[in-house]
Amino acid sequence: MRVGWTKARPAHEGKRKDVGDGDRRSLKILVTGGTGSFGQAFVRRVLADRDQCTVRVYSRDELKQYDMAQAFGHDPRLRFFIGDVRDRERLVRAMHGIDLVVHAAALKHVPICEFNPAEAVKTNIQGSQNVVDAAVDAGVRRTIALSTDKAVNPVNLYGATKLCAEKLFVHGNVYAGARDIRFSCVRYGNVMGSRGSVIPLFKKQAETGILTITDRRMTRFWLSLEQAVNLVLQVAGEMRGGEIFVPKIPSMRVVDLARAMAPTAQIDEVGRRPGEKLHEVLLTAEEARNTQDYGSHYVIEPDHGRRREGAFAERALPDGFVYSSDTNSEWMTVESLRQHVAILMGGADAAPSSTRAHDVVSRGSRVAALGQPS
Ligand SMILES: NC(=O)c1ccc[n+]([C@@H]2O[C@H](COP(=O)([O-])OP(=O)(O)OC[C@H]3O[C@@H](n4cnc5c(N)ncnc54)[C@H](OP(=O)(O)O)[C@@H]3O)[C@@H](O)[C@H]2O)c1
Repeated sequence: MRVGWTKARPAHEGKRKDVGDGDRRSLKILVTGGTGSFGQAFVRRVLADRDQCTVRVYSRDELKQYDMAQAFGHDPRLRFFIGDVRDRERLVRAMHGIDLVVHAAALKHVPICEFNPAEAVKTNIQGSQNVVDAAVDAGVRRTIALSTDKAVNPVNLYGATKLCAEKLFVHGNVYAGARDIRFSCVRYGNVMGSRGSVIPLFKKQAETGILTITDRRMTRFWLSLEQAVNLVLQVAGEMRGGEIFVPKIPSMRVVDLARAMAPTAQIDEVGRRPGEKLHEVLLTAEEARNTQDYGSHYVIEPDHGRRREGAFAERALPDGFVYSSDTNSEWMTVESLRQHVAILMGGADAAPSSTRAHDVVSRGSRVAALGQPS
């Protein structure tokens, strides 16, 4: 039984674990939060690249599902389940016969999570545990949770809930026992152009001639939706269970983004919001001890007190290594930001292929190769 996502050899040592099937059996994927920014981009990509598949979208709002069904031309490979990740029974039903779950559903707005903490806990923490439990009960072989840099040294509730979700996923592998059921996470920074990102806000403010930024020194990681989708597809082929995958991506200064979007506008500094960091971190010094560098991405291995020997030592990070948006070695310039925003505004979510980040995370992640022998 093969479940390969890519033809390329995975970066990891050891035998490749395929999810899916080389026997041309149709691959079945469930995406929680499939009507969101990531979910729609992911579903579009899978349907475009793979004829033989069924994709189930799992989310609460019927209107978003209705709109998505219309936008996707009522593709028969696409199914919609109304459901809440807080509802474990419904999840088990939705996961019946599924090969891969991508868990994207979340409450993700920092101020809204601060103001509704119990709701954020129910969706992001309890919901994630329900996804793990349901995947074990339904025998789903691969489940990937989407996490965020805000889960690292969290200073707001959103980040804290995503940190808990990461821990639940890493630990979920224990529940699977000897069965080939695996849980892993991907952790990345701000997805530019996703719902609620700063780009639509700056675009609106540009019309008034005044852009507001909270702190001129602020930096963030930059990722496109396409890169996020590529990363998840790559992880589906490479995961062994318990890892957190972190892509190498460039940083940007938020003030440079403002200049790129509205070169002549006045920029007003309004002060940091509660729960907002000056810089984001994707990998702490403590995590770095369990992390391997695979060139295009880092892999945080589950902490089993592993010793640095053999292949691990070769890929180990230097002591004290921290992957932070302010000390990143790769930066977006005002000009490159302008180009990326122009593409986003044009309706595409892809970054120019000339950028290194695009190159590294898209390598070997075509869905067309799903289920094919390596
Ligand atoms: N966007 C970013 O910059 C970014 C960065 C790093 C990580 N992430 C992570 O990536 C994931 C996807 O983000 P996104 O930008 O695609 O978010 P989004 O556009 O806000 O979409 C969220 C999705 O989750 C669904 N949802 C919310 N609560 C739910 C619940 N209780 N049960 C079932 N479905 C629920 C929503 O649909 P309904 O409201 O209809 O249920 C929607 O489909 C999230 O886990 C987020 O934490 C995002």
